[in-house]
Amino acid sequence: MYTIAHRGASGNAPENTFAAFDIAAELNADFIELDVQLTKDGHIVVIHDDRVDRTTDGSGFVKDYTLKQLQSLDAGSWYGAEFKGERIPLLEEVLKRYHSKIGFLIELKGHASQVGLEKAVGQLLSKFSFSIYHIVQSFSLKSIQIFHDMYPSVPTAIIARPSFGMFSKSQLTAYKSAANYVNIKYTRLNRFLISTAHRHGLKVFAWTVRNKKTAEKLQMMAVDGIVTDFPDFISKDG
Ligand code: G3P
Ligand code: CA
Repeated sequence: MYTIAHRGASGNAPENTFAAFDIAAELNADFIELDVQLTKDGHIVVIHDDRVDRTTDGSGFVKDYTLKQLQSLDAGSWYGAEFKGERIPLLEEVLKRYHSKIGFLIELKGHASQVGLEKAVGQLLSKFSFSIYHIVQSFSLKSIQIFHDMYPSVPTAIIARPSFGMFSKSQLTAYKSAANYVNIKYTRLNRFLISTAHRHGLKVFAWTVRNKKTAEKLQMMAVDGIVTDFPDFISKDG
């Protein structure tokens, strides 16, 4: 079972920064989960929200900043003074720094402005064919379909919040056609959902776990990976 550090070890350091990724690697997580978007000048940067306001000292939309402008922002102080000076990373820098140590669960953020993100991420990943492993995921089925059509050899995941504790037939058909994993909000997971996914050849991740008891319960349910802010909460014996 994989331990997946959500936005890095974001329970210990500012999300989606090198500080959070370093801790995830130190804690021996199997994957770093991170969120990517395009800048105004077409670079792939690692940040969750479509605006910079919550996690930096700037204001406005990521899509309206050039890379240079974005990297002048402080992405650490909002979390704690000791993280002052953390920057919004380029995806390429993150891949370079960790690709031989840890896998990546790369989330394409489906904001309307992100036209071309699928192609740009696939092109970049093709330069890192020696990486341990990477999976590309999105809440947007359309985005994953576009990505899968362009890069069918790269594993993909659909992020989902299934209603009524089950998948519909059409959901399963669509997921199977474009993805290898379903990444499900842990509060919506049950054993039936997991076994249904497994029967259809889909592996199951659970997001986002922030306490040990929940992690233990999910491990007992035989999920294939847990996305967590605290990678050290996941027992490696499970
Ligand atoms: O891996 C799934 C999880 O990251 C989805 O939620 O909002 O943290 O991107 P969010
Ligand atoms: Ca994410």
